[in-house]
Amino acid sequence: MIIEPRMRGFICLTAHPDGCAQNIKNQIDYVKSKGKIEGAKRVLVIGASTGFGLASRITSAFGCDAATIGVFFEKAPAPGKTATPGWYNSAAFEKEAHQVGLYAKSINGDAFSDEIKQQTLDLINADLGQIDLVIYSLASPVRLHPKTGVLHRSVLKPIGQTFTNKTVDFHTGNVTQVSIEPANQDDIDNTVVVMGGEDWAMWMDALAEANLLAEGATTLAYSYIGPSVTEAVYRKGTIGRAKDDLEATAFKITEKLSALNGKAYVSVNKALVTQASSAIPVIPLYISLLYKIMKAEGIHEGCIEQIQRLYSDRLYQGNEIPTDEQGRIRIDDWEMREDVQSQIAALWVESTTENLTAIGDLAGYKQDFLNLFGFGFDGVDYLKDSDEMVLIPSIK
Ligand code: NAI
Ligand code: NA
Repeated sequence: MIIEPRMRGFICLTAHPDGCAQNIKNQIDYVKSKGKIEGAKRVLVIGASTGFGLASRITSAFGCDAATIGVFFEKAPAPGKTATPGWYNSAAFEKEAHQVGLYAKSINGDAFSDEIKQQTLDLINADLGQIDLVIYSLASPVRLHPKTGVLHRSVLKPIGQTFTNKTVDFHTGNVTQVSIEPANQDDIDNTVVVMGGEDWAMWMDALAEANLLAEGATTLAYSYIGPSVTEAVYRKGTIGRAKDDLEATAFKITEKLSALNGKAYVSVNKALVTQASSAIPVIPLYISLLYKIMKAEGIHEGCIEQIQRLYSDRLYQGNEIPTDEQGRIRIDDWEMREDVQSQIAALWVESTTENLTAIGDLAGYKQDFLNLFGFGFDGVDYLKDSDEMVLIPSIK
């Protein structure tokens, strides 16, 4: 069928299989253009189908020649109804990996559940024996707790006081004031349960107990800090509490993995357009200003450029992994550059509906958003019939 984007709010209801395949090809080509990386050979990516997790899977496979197992939660296609983009991404990734003889299998289901963890352990045990690198890159609004059966929902709210600032509806370009009421304690606790470190630790415990981690195994989860304009709603808000918890969990995991010389890190990444970040108020306005400035400075990166640099210049550069005083890997270094941030701070004050297309990169934001769903890629004929029933080779 002919597939067109159908937008509703912060999401697009359709995804284009050929466009998603093109996106995968482009990311693979980028990684290959940067040369080989001496890195992990058996990699588990939890949250492997979109965003930073997908970029990690691609960099592991096509940068390090790694066998990869990807875990994600995506919707399969039905006749006349497209799959979610992560489904098509994973189908295309597996095909590309298999073509060059790389092992790649996927598990589609709720990574927070005991059942999906067990399936993953069984697959590792049967096929790879052990894992050298675990990437933890989940972004989810809900978590069904496997021990209590409680469904927790995360929220994006400030803590302590109402937050009022500018935001943009990136579809219309309207810049408006948004006010967000402060979180209560339940909101904070729930957000920490969903996006904090507990599930990461559960995964690492399960892997370690089953003896599926290799000597010196490394695990990495992704965090964000960002500038002062987003601080009240992001780093000092509910999601920030979850990130504090995630960062603290890295130390606990490292301690637990000491018998096998394993190590857990958090990498602080750059703000990027993903399905997760588009839903956060204020962030789209910040990102459109950030993109404009980083592109002008020649230092703009997408997920794949970020993760390729994370692997080649941090994780696997051959020396001790450089971190900040809190033990975090920083690949948000270009975003946080003083000259970049001071320009954004000035533009932030000025920005209005009328001038945003000129002073911000709203077009770049929209392009990236469309790309998430497989739309807007050169080399794809969107007027042609395409097969929505694309399957993931390893998923029956
Ligand atoms: P994303 O929405 O692109 O990817 C989320 C992944 O998690 C997908 O593979 C999805 O299938 C999977 N997933 C969600 N719920 C699941 C479940 N219950 N079971 C199994 N898989 C599930 O998100 P993005 O942006 O790549 O985020 C990944 C991490 O990077 C998050 O921790 C986020 O906070 C962090 N990060 C994101 C930044 C951004 O600007 N987008 C910046 C810095 C860090
Ligand atoms: Na991800």
